[in-house]
Amino acid sequence: MGVRFISYLYEILDDELNCPFNSWITWHYTQGMGRKRGFSPRHDDILMFNMSDQFTFNLDAVRVPQKYYRSRNNMRGANPGDVWEFSHVHYCQKNRQSHPTQKPEALIERMVLASSDEGDLVLDPFVGSGTTPRVCQQLGRRFLGFEINPDYVALAQERLGAEFSGFDGVDPRMARVPKDMRDPELRRAYLEKHPEWFLKNHEGCLDLFEKRVLELYGE
Ligand SMILES: C[S@@+](CC[C@H](N)C(=O)[O-])C[C@H]1O[C@@H](n2cnc3c(N)ncnc32)[C@H](O)[C@@H]1O
Repeated sequence: MGVRFISYLYEILDDELNCPFNSWITWHYTQGMGRKRGFSPRHDDILMFNMSDQFTFNLDAVRVPQKYYRSRNNMRGANPGDVWEFSHVHYCQKNRQSHPTQKPEALIERMVLASSDEGDLVLDPFVGSGTTPRVCQQLGRRFLGFEINPDYVALAQERLGAEFSGFDGVDPRMARVPKDMRDPELRRAYLEKHPEWFLKNHEGCLDLFEKRVLELYGE
């Protein structure tokens, strides 16, 4: 949600529906409309509430690479935190649909990976250009959605039939290579795992990752 209605939604979920609060997430983006008398908006809010105290949270599926190797760090990755940076889908991108508020697939990917398992049913009551069904299709989740505009329904259906070559958008941290991995054995073991842990469905980032490995470690 944009900022205007978020506090009302919070009250409804918390006070009226008694759902347990989990996280207030900020989706930060670097481009958007400019304002002359006030600060240009550069974020949307995402409220995460659970239905009860029993809920799915797959932390390993959404971890981000560590900045440094430290023996106390979990090299499987860090919790992504509650400020998420993803660019909007630009008009020049192949996957850009004719919908005014298309969300980046990587943003929805993180929510779906964290909060559901393969085969689970995901509901999006405002399908728009079909980002959530597309992500669910690729992640092996079942999907149910509503969309009031028949043109967008057609758009979303067509999108489901398109060839898949990775999700659009990516958290800029995913291709970062941890510094200070001085031990060659440890480094090799880590670097072999990095693409599988962090770049699945984002294979377009492999070149950048390999370039950074070369810059840092020369191999
Ligand atoms: C913010 S957009 C969703 C964008 C979507 N997440 C995407 O990535 O393309 C909201 C969508 O909800 C639809 N919508 C609005 N009111 C609705 C309603 N009462 N029932 C179903 N769809 C509705 C609008 O037509 C619009 O396409």
